[in-house]
Amino acid sequence: MEKNDHICVVGLGYVGLPLAVELSCYYDVTGYDIDAALIERLKRGVNYNNDVDVGKLLECAESLTSAEEDIASCNIYIVAVPTPVDKDNVPDLSMLKSATRMIARYLKKGDVVVYESTVYPGVTENVCGAILQGISSLESGIDFFLGYSPERINPGDREHTVKSVTKIVSAQTEEVADRLASIYGSLNGGNIYKTKNIKTAEASKVVENAQRDINIAFINEVTVLMNEMGISIYDVLDAARTKWNFLPFTPGLVSGHCIGVDPYYLIECAQKCGLNAEMVGAGRAINNRMSSYVSNIITESLGGVAADGRGIRVLILGFTFKEEVNDIRNTKIFEVHNLLLASGFEVDIHDPYANAEEVRKAYGLELKENLEGETYNCVALLVSHKMYADMDKKTQLALLKKGGVVFDLKGIWKNIEFPQDTTYITL
Ligand SMILES: NC(=O)c1ccc[n+]([C@@H]2O[C@H](COP(=O)([O-])OP(=O)(O)OC[C@H]3O[C@@H](n4cnc5c(N)ncnc54)[C@H](O)[C@@H]3O)[C@@H](O)[C@H]2O)c1
Repeated sequence: MEKNDHICVVGLGYVGLPLAVELSCYYDVTGYDIDAALIERLKRGVNYNNDVDVGKLLECAESLTSAEEDIASCNIYIVAVPTPVDKDNVPDLSMLKSATRMIARYLKKGDVVVYESTVYPGVTENVCGAILQGISSLESGIDFFLGYSPERINPGDREHTVKSVTKIVSAQTEEVADRLASIYGSLNGGNIYKTKNIKTAEASKVVENAQRDINIAFINEVTVLMNEMGISIYDVLDAARTKWNFLPFTPGLVSGHCIGVDPYYLIECAQKCGLNAEMVGAGRAINNRMSSYVSNIITESLGGVAADGRGIRVLILGFTFKEEVNDIRNTKIFEVHNLLLASGFEVDIHDPYANAEEVRKAYGLELKENLEGETYNCVALLVSHKMYADMDKKTQLALLKKGGVVFDLKGIWKNIEFPQDTTYITL
């Protein structure tokens, strides 16, 4: 660390906020976000993402801002803005470019700009570097320096945090890489892996996530096959896991902002090289089909598409993109919900973690606040939140109409003995 380093974290979401808060224990930090309402909330200690200690957040309140001129005195910029895909699954770099243009307006000689947003190899230097250079009239790698350090935190995972995971660091020069290693190393006891260049670090992130997507796709593919043959994938996995080198993936709806998105960045990058990332594309296609596979099973279990007025009611348990988190971005449960509605059913959704206001804003849906008082023809357990795993049989049965169906996507109730008139379905 240089004596006068002043770090600016740009984008205070799931990645940027914990980073800014932790870094502020050691460095002079400014946290910038374009969303003024978010900054106002954070300054009051209100954080919907729930992954930052409120006391620590309040200590940083003064240094959080949505006024871009406040970043002018910074010399190290860490960018953690979203890198989603558009409706055609093409990488959308618009927020990354816009954040970069803002930094470029304040860039000075000697400054360092580090990207944490997930990108494909080449984006940091060829896209962002070019923008910084063009607007600032400074030369990349000489007047200012680029770095890339992918974020690897796993939402909802208290074991693998900013403080414990190995942090990959890369930069245009060895000296800047060492500087970044020292900054990030102060958070995790020096647990740093330096790649030899920026492209390698960029690639490592998308390859990590594409590998996970493909592994889940394989399990989803064999799940469908086993199901057609009347074999439960969960019984198969219980048996297969007894082999020491069997990988512990399970079937599911691949949702969220990383695993279901990042492989498209690899696909785009392959296309730019005149190649077809066939396995990555196949994995995406298989995983994307799971929403309709799941909703078809539920529809068939209820006697097929409901004619108007049949009044068949389905309760979906779980809306977030995975268990024990409140993140609802790109949740595939929305697709399942819509497909069940299209089948003519009345559908309610419950989730103990999702923020009702955020769900309303993002999806136009009202979550059920509690589970008391209503009964359903089908309870579809789609996210294995602990609350559902721990639910007692009395509560489960109180949700069901006589002769109802339980669809258990994750197989977490498979050892429960339901009454004879209840149909229990898992994969
Ligand atoms: N969430 C994760 O667990 C995770 C893990 C690894 C990598 N990533 C990657 O990190 C990046 C950020 O993800 P996230 O989950 O933190 O996103 P997020 O949506 O939670 O937060 C991003 C923040 O950036 C802000 N923003 C958007 N445009 C901006 C701009 N021009 N200037 C300043 N702020 C701007 C938004 O208002 C938002 O608060 C993405 O590339 C993502 O793929 C996320």
